[in-house]
Amino acid sequence: MHDQAETLRRIVQHKADDKSLSESDTSGKRARVITITSGKGGVGKTNVTINLALALSQMGLKVVILDVDFGLANIDVLFGIVPKYSILDVIRDEKSINDVLTDGPNNIKFLSGGSGVEELIRLDRKQLREFVAHISQLDKLFDVILIDTGAGLSQNVMSFIMAADEVILVTTPEPTSITDAYALVKMVSRRDRRKRMHIIVNKAESIKEAEEISKKLMVVSEKFLSLRLLKLGYILYDDTVTKSVKMQKPFSLYNPKCQAAKNISDIADKLFSNPTPDGNTGAKGFISKLLSFFGA
Ligand SMILES: Nc1ncnc2c1ncn2[C@@H]1O[C@H](COP(=O)(O)OP(=O)(O)OP(=O)(O)O)[C@@H](O)[C@H]1O
Ligand SMILES: [Mg+2]
Repeated sequence: MHDQAETLRRIVQHKADDKSLSESDTSGKRARVITITSGKGGVGKTNVTINLALALSQMGLKVVILDVDFGLANIDVLFGIVPKYSILDVIRDEKSINDVLTDGPNNIKFLSGGSGVEELIRLDRKQLREFVAHISQLDKLFDVILIDTGAGLSQNVMSFIMAADEVILVTTPEPTSITDAYALVKMVSRRDRRKRMHIIVNKAESIKEAEEISKKLMVVSEKFLSLRLLKLGYILYDDTVTKSVKMQKPFSLYNPKCQAAKNISDIADKLFSNPTPDGNTGAKGFISKLLSFFGA
C-alpha cells in the first residue's frame, strides 16, 4: 500500500519545467486538476466526483473536492455534512485555505465554491494576488483536485473546464445526454482541440451499451471536431447508487462491493495508470487561468 502510494505520488508530481507559470514556486509539486462536467444535468457528476475521490484516496493520494455548482450545494448534501466555510471566507476574511477546508470521509477534504466567482471580479490587484497565493497552496497540500460543476454549456462552467488541466465528461446512454455531451465537446474544441478530455458513460445497462456510446462519441468528436476523447470507463446502472443518495452516503462506502463501486475503482486505476499530462499547471495555473477568463 505504502509503495503504491509513493509511486502514485511520484506520478502526479510534475517537475517544475514551465518557468512562465511560477517563478517563485520552487517546490515544483503540482496537483492534478480535473473538472468533472456534463452537457445535461443529473447524469451522475456529483456521485462520480465523490466516489472517485474516495477511490483515489484509497490508493494513497491526497484528494480535495472543489464544489463549484453554484445553483445547488451538491457535495455537502451527498456527504450529509454541512460545511462551515466556503471559498468566500478566503476572499473576504483572509482565512487560510486550510481553515476553509471541510473534512469528508476517509481523509478527503472538500471546499465549497459558494458564489465566489462574482466576488472575485470585485477584488483589487493586491487582493487577487493574495487569493492566487492561497489557492496555490493546494498544490502543496494535495495530489488531486476534483472540481464538481453544474451541467455544462454556461459561461461559468466552460471557464472551469478550460482552466483545468483535464476534464472528465459524464454522459448517460440517453440520446439527449449524448447530444448535449457532444455539444459540450464542440464548444471545448473551438477553444482548445488538444484539451485532455476523458469520458465516462454512467447508468449504462450493459458494458456493450457503454462501449458503443463511448466509441460513438469518440469517433464523431475526432472526425468532426478534431478532438480526441479518452475513454475512461463506465458505471453500470446500480440501485445501490439511488439508495446511497437517499442515505446521504457515498455508494462506495454504503456498499463497497456494489457494481458501481467496482466500476469507479477501475476508473480510478485507469486515470492514474497514465502519468500526469505534459504541461500540467496545477492549482496555481488553474486559478490564474480562471481569473483571466472572468476578467478579474
Ligand atoms: N450508476 C447509477 N445507477 C443508478 N442511479 C444513478 C447512477 N448514477 C447516478 N444515479 C442517480 O442519478 C441521480 C443524479 O446523480 P448526481 O446528483 O450525481 O448527478 P449530477 O450530474 O451531479 O446532477 P446535477 O447536474 O443536478 O448536479 C442520483 O440521485 C442517483 O440516484
Ligand atoms: Mg451535481
